[in-house]
Parts: sequence; structure tokens; C-alpha cells
Amino acid sequence: MVLSSILVSFVLYLALPGAMLPVTVRAEKVNVIAGKPAILHCLDSTDKKNPATLIWKYNNKLLLKIFQGNPFKGEKSEMWTLNNDESFSLELVKAETGLYTCEVDGKLETTYEVKVWKVIGSKSGYLLQGDTLKLNLSPFNMEDNRIEWFNPQKAKVTGKELRWKVQEDSIQITNLTIQEDHGMWECHVFPDQLKIPYNVKIIGFPNPLDEFNFAALNSSFNLSCPLNINLENQKDPEIPRVQSWKLVKNNIVVEEQNISNMNNSFPTKRIPRVHFEDAGKYQCHLRFNHRNLNKNINLIVMTVSAVPDELSSKENVTLCGHIKPAPPLAELCWVNVNESMSKPTCGSPISENKFCHIATTAGLWRCDLKVNNNVKISINYTLGKTTNEWTVESRFPLIEIASGAGATLLLLILAGICVPTCKHIKRKRQQAKRIAQIKQHLLAKRTCQCQRELANDYYHT
Ligand SMILES: *[C@@H]1O[C@H](CO)[C@@H](O)[C@H](O)[C@H]1NC(C)=O
Ligand SMILES: *[C@@H]1O[C@H](CO)[C@@H](O)[C@H](O)[C@H]1NC(C)=O
Ligand SMILES: *[C@@H]1O[C@H](CO)[C@@H](O)[C@H](O)[C@H]1NC(C)=O
Ligand SMILES: *[C@@H]1O[C@H](CO)[C@@H](O)[C@H](O)[C@H]1NC(C)=O
Ligand SMILES: *[C@@H]1O[C@H](CO)[C@@H](O)[C@H](O)[C@H]1NC(C)=O
Ligand SMILES: *[C@@H]1O[C@H](CO)[C@@H](O)[C@H](O)[C@H]1NC(C)=O
Ligand SMILES: *[C@@H]1O[C@H](CO)[C@@H](O)[C@H](O)[C@H]1NC(C)=O
Ligand SMILES: *[C@@H]1O[C@H](CO)[C@@H](O)[C@H](O)[C@H]1NC(C)=O
Repeated sequence: MVLSSILVSFVLYLALPGAMLPVTVRAEKVNVIAGKPAILHCLDSTDKKNPATLIWKYNNKLLLKIFQGNPFKGEKSEMWTLNNDESFSLELVKAETGLYTCEVDGKLETTYEVKVWKVIGSKSGYLLQGDTLKLNLSPFNMEDNRIEWFNPQKAKVTGKELRWKVQEDSIQITNLTIQEDHGMWECHVFPDQLKIPYNVKIIGFPNPLDEFNFAALNSSFNLSCPLNINLENQKDPEIPRVQSWKLVKNNIVVEEQNISNMNNSFPTKRIPRVHFEDAGKYQCHLRFNHRNLNKNINLIVMTVSAVPDELSSKENVTLCGHIKPAPPLAELCWVNVNESMSKPTCGSPISENKFCHIATTAGLWRCDLKVNNNVKISINYTLGKTTNEWTVESRFPLIEIASGAGATLLLLILAGICVPTCKHIKRKRQQAKRIAQIKQHLLAKRTCQCQRELANDYYHT
């Protein structure tokens, strides 16, 4: 039996005007939460009576009459069903506030004072992120009741929150958010200990409205503004239809689509190979019947460079991390993965959109882009060491001078001395260069890959 849904608060004795025999009749107060069923018993199941006539009334109107075992329906038959049990109980499927009575053989048997509680929203169905919603408790009696509101995270509303304004019998939620407002709210009513639920349904973006995404140069990237619910799921007629959506950058439409063309994969703009020109601020505009939903995606593109691309004894390598644009509080850090003891060197890329580090050791280097001390994207660079050159240079340090002023004269002098040796050296250097080129080609394939985080790829401003 669904007795648990009946919240009997107290029993009172009520004098019913017009009642024939008993002067006082047991009248139970029954609190019903709207939408939940309630069961009203007529006879005690121990009574074992077999009445000739049994009548259920609601506010003195006939609901049901049972005469010699045969039921006859009266009014409001959509509101109740008769349970097939010994107590001739009435199950209220759509209870209404009022007085319910059961008469047995002309004698008033039981009386119930039913009160139906509900929370009423100022708007129904799905709301859009940013809307305002007011929830009211009904009925509300200031003298008798005190109420508290609980958000979908089951936290009590204190009244000090910015967006939640509590009044005597209501709560107003402004600038609705997916994160805090979407879900089942509860109104707790005291002293009756009722918990009345209300499902707040919001369509919006689960990610921040100003989102930061990070991509490595030449990697592929999908620009998208996923919603918290799948709009293709047309089973729920309450879900409002998107009229159109578009992706805009600098007031230029990058991608536009009609809802009729929308697939179950939510609108996405795929960038197969990210360039620096792709960086910047994008806006997603989704048009619904009455309102738009908008959000920003800031795409930050990163790459690394090394000049020269290999270490040699004559030159250290300048490793640079480049980003565009540089978000506030961004930091680039270079760390030599092979030297676990070495400390990363970090710097702000804000002024030049890059941060460089002079590398003196070979091995695997990693450049981290950190925002608020969280690593957003990392790029590896394997720094190799030029072979062979060491021997060349140690014997002929003049080559370095050769590129400077007055080199021609010096070369002329030297030419006479060492033509045979130089031929040998030239061959060796060409060989070394070829090896270096092959190596570089191989390295390019396995370095500079992007390591994208998934859900945490953004930060809050
Ligand atoms: C509404 O909330 C969002 C964050 O969810 C915020 O960015 C926006 O400024 C707020 N709007 C108003 C009018 O308070
Ligand atoms: C990106 O692709 C371009 C064109 O193929 C190439 O020249 C460049 O070296 C690549 N950069 C990186 C960091 O992979
Ligand atoms: C981008 O979307 C395509 C489908 O359009 C998918 O195959 C691919 O895995 C997505 N890439 C990323 C990085 O999410
Ligand atoms: C969207 O629909 C409108 C009107 O039906 C049409 O003019 C427009 O070309 C459509 N756009 C796309 C991207 O299909
Ligand atoms: C659904 O997506 C596929 C592949 O992404 C595309 O070929 C097809 O045209 C799309 N359908 C609609 C209705 O847009
Ligand atoms: C490379 O850097 C180290 C440390 O800064 C310095 O001692 C060395 O002279 C540099 N080598 C060259 C060839 O510039
Ligand atoms: C550096 O470390 C990587 C992997 O962590 C390894 O493959 C590579 O051989 C190391 N290089 C040197 C010079 O130790
Ligand atoms: C970068 O190097 C680290 C250390 O060897 C490795 O764990 C990581 O997978 C590399 N990342 C990429 C994208 O290759």
C-alpha cells in the first residue's frame, strides 16, 4: 500500500454541519505533494463489514457510490481509482485540495482534509541559460509555515547568494546557470516536514561562457560549443528547437548551419591543420524561438622552434615557445626531460608572444604553457647534437673567422697552405650535413606534438 505518501500530520475532531448521527467525526489532515498519489481509507480493514451502500464524496459532491457490491462513478473520475480492498480505499492519482468523506449505510465513516502542495515556476519547460525563474510555494500561510530552499546540489539556500533571492514564499533565480541551477530543487516546509521537489530544466553550455582552448601548430582541432542536452533527442517535445547556429570570428561568419542540417554530432567546425591565423576569439551563436545563446571560444595556438636546430660546440641552441594570443597569467616553461635534476626556466610570453631559453645540453626538451600554474599544453622537442664538426673546428678554428670582416684576405693566405686538407674537410662537412638533414627529418615526425587536456582545457577569468 502507498501509505507512505500520505503525510498525516495530526488528527482533529471536527463537527460537520449537516452530518446526521455522529456529532464528532474523525477528520484526518492529509498533506499531498502534487503529482504523488495518496490513499484514503474508508473502513478499517479489521472491521470486516460488508456494507450495503458506501459513498465517497469530495466537497459534498458524489465521487463514487457502491451499492450492493456494484460501483457507480460520480464526478471527477480522472482524479481517483477505487482500490480493490476490504477498506474500500480511494487512491487519489491527481489529488485536489478539499474535504473527502466516506459514508457507510448512511453514516459518516471517515473524513479527510486534503491539502495539495506544489512549487509553481514562473515559466515552465526548458529555460535558457541566463534566464530568470521564480519559484513559489502553494499554498502558503505565513502564520503556519516556514520554508527553506535547497538547490540541486542539496545545499540549503542561505539568502546571501548573489543570484538567489529568497522571499517569504518564493525564490527568484536570476541568470540561470547549468552548473548550479539545472536539476531538482526542493522546498522544505515546516513544521509539516514536507519536501516538495521542482525540476529546473536549463539548456546551455556546461563549459564556461568564456572558454580557452589550446592547440599545437599543425595539429587538428575541433571548434565546438556543446550544449548540456542533446537537441537531436526529439523524444522530449518540451525541448525547444534551435532555429540556427553560427560560428563567428571578428564579425565574419566562419560556419553557419540551419537546424534542418544538424546531425547528431553537435555543430563542429573542424580545423584539420591549425595555423597561427586560426588563433583568436570565436563566438558561437545559437538562435532559439525567443532568445539566443552565445558563448566565446578563445583559441590559443602554440609551437616551438630551435635555432640552430642542433647543438654544436660552436653554438648553443635558442629554444623558443611561441603562442598566439598570450592569455593573461600565461607562462612558458622549458624543461630538459632527460635531466630530472634541472629546474625549468619559465617566463612570460606576454610582451613578445614567445619565451626563449638558451639550451646547452642535448636531449628531450619540453615546453609547457601554464596558465595560473596549470599546464594547458606541452610540446616536446628532441635536441640533437651535431656529430663530426668537433674535429673539423678544433683543427680549423679559422672557419669561424671566415664569416667575419677581413675574411677574404685571410682566406687567400690560407688557400695556398692547405688546399688538399680543405678538400678533405669539405667532403667531411657535406657528409655531416646530410646526416643532420636526415636526422632532422626523422625528428620532425615525432616531435612537436600536441598534448591536449580534455575537460580542463580552459580556465576561468
Ligand atoms: C551571468 O552569469 C555568467 C556566468 O555564468 C556571467 O558571465 C554573466 O556576466 C552573468 N550575467 C549577468 C547579467 O549577471
Ligand atoms: C607546420 O607545417 C608547415 C607546413 O607543412 C611546416 O613548414 C612547419 O615546419 C610545421 N611546423 C611544425 C612545428 O610542425
Ligand atoms: C574532430 O571531429 C572529428 C569528426 O568531425 C573527429 O573524427 C575527431 O576525432 C575530432 N578531433 C578531436 C581532436 O576531437
Ligand atoms: C538556411 O535556411 C535559409 C532559409 O530557409 C536559407 O536561406 C539558407 O541558405 C540556409 N542556410 C544553410 C546554411 O543551409
Ligand atoms: C551528417 O554528417 C555527415 C558526415 O559528417 C554529412 O555527410 C551529412 O550531410 C550530414 N547530414 C546532415 C543532415 O547534415
Ligand atoms: C653556451 O652557453 C654556456 C652557458 O651559458 C656558455 O658558457 C657557453 O660559452 C656557450 N657556448 C657558446 C658556444 O656560445
Ligand atoms: C632523453 O629521454 C628520452 C625519453 O625520456 C630518451 O628517449 C632519450 O634517449 C634521452 N636522451 C638522452 C640524450 O639521454
Ligand atoms: C613528450 O615526452 C614525454 C617524455 O618522454 C612523453 O611522456 C610524452 O608522451 C611526449 N609527448 C608527446 C606528445 O610526444
